[in-house]
Amino acid sequence: MISIYSHTFLLFRCHKMSTSLKHMPSTKRIEIFHTPLLIIPMSKAGTLDLASGLGGKLDKNEVLSAVEKYEKYHVCYGGEEEERKANYTDMVNKYYDLVTSFYEFGWGESFHFAPRWKGESLRESIKRHEHFLALQLDLKPGHKVLDVGCGIGGPLREIARFSYTSVTGLNNNEYQISRGKELNRVAKVDKTCDFVKADFMKMPFPDNSFDAVYAIEATCHAPDAYGCYKEIYRVLKPGQHFAAYEWCMTDAFDSNNQEHQKIKAEIEIGDGLPDIRLTGQCLGALKQAGFEVVWERDLAVNSPLPWYLPLDKSHFSLSSFRLTAIGRFITKNMVKVLEFVRLAPKGSQRVQDFLEKAAEGLVEGGKKEIFTPMYFFLARKPLSASEK
Ligand SMILES: C[S@@+](CC[C@H](N)C(=O)[O-])C[C@H]1O[C@@H](n2cnc3c(N)ncnc32)[C@H](O)[C@@H]1O
Repeated sequence: MISIYSHTFLLFRCHKMSTSLKHMPSTKRIEIFHTPLLIIPMSKAGTLDLASGLGGKLDKNEVLSAVEKYEKYHVCYGGEEEERKANYTDMVNKYYDLVTSFYEFGWGESFHFAPRWKGESLRESIKRHEHFLALQLDLKPGHKVLDVGCGIGGPLREIARFSYTSVTGLNNNEYQISRGKELNRVAKVDKTCDFVKADFMKMPFPDNSFDAVYAIEATCHAPDAYGCYKEIYRVLKPGQHFAAYEWCMTDAFDSNNQEHQKIKAEIEIGDGLPDIRLTGQCLGALKQAGFEVVWERDLAVNSPLPWYLPLDKSHFSLSSFRLTAIGRFITKNMVKVLEFVRLAPKGSQRVQDFLEKAAEGLVEGGKKEIFTPMYFFLARKPLSASEK
């Protein structure tokens, strides 16, 4: 096991060599450091990117107070659902300012789970999950598509290239948009795809603007599903489709069961959620918003490998090493050192702690089948009110 001291040494070496390393292929970097931290990562983000991005657009001196404020919104710290819903913009933006560099470090450019086949890598399953959405929406070259809650645009770039469409990413987090724009330039899709900074509860688009709309693990942040779906309905052209992967509690969730409630609260604090809705509530909200539901299913149910496998401590994988128990243990110590030597802001370890809580809640919720991050639905906006 590499000690904390060798990590410190490594970090100083990284710090000194960062400029020249940026121009060096990642395989060469592996030869130099011989450390598990830098082998076969899911993402291209390195240790220094994690440290420098931590806190997003927040002033680095405000990270600790942002963590404290964020934690207080949640049940584990005495917070209440109504307060989270009333302050959803502040809560969600704080959350993504604090965690985006961790997500990039661990997951890469797409921040979502996927059902998985045997023999398929995590990265392959994530891309396939994105392609599935594009196929369900019947995307055609030239279509104008909206990605609601687009993160740093991993799915947006993949879907745009897969289907030759122009995708607009809607996101309320300024830091993620700045990362997304940078990555769009690198991927050379910046001429056809763009980002808009806005709240998905009040979108700055005219009625009937898009040929298709999708949302991947994002509308769960909405304080009210009906309000969010209604906005999506408004901006979608009549006769066109909306597809999503929703985070939901399943019918197996028992609100009187304390263990179930604890798992739900861990997922909420670890993932910046005001409240996790039941699958039936999302379905009801879709219909109430005016959509006709073409089909819906929890895709977790028949996945050959469980979606939570990458976070399960008993599972080891080289290709998603940073998400494994030892990868997370190393990251935890690395963040401790980074914070100690002030390369990462004060409060960084606390972020790592609530992310760890999230991982535990997600795995437990998945194993007990009380939670799913992939309640899929395909919904259509009728051509006219009389068609409903
Ligand atoms: C788990 S991330 C998923 C990102 C992306 N769909 C992906 O799969 O990579 C959720 C995203 O929803 C965005 N989001 C949350 N609340 C939002 C709101 N009210 N308006 C716009 N975007 C929001 C967050 O900023 C974040 O980018």
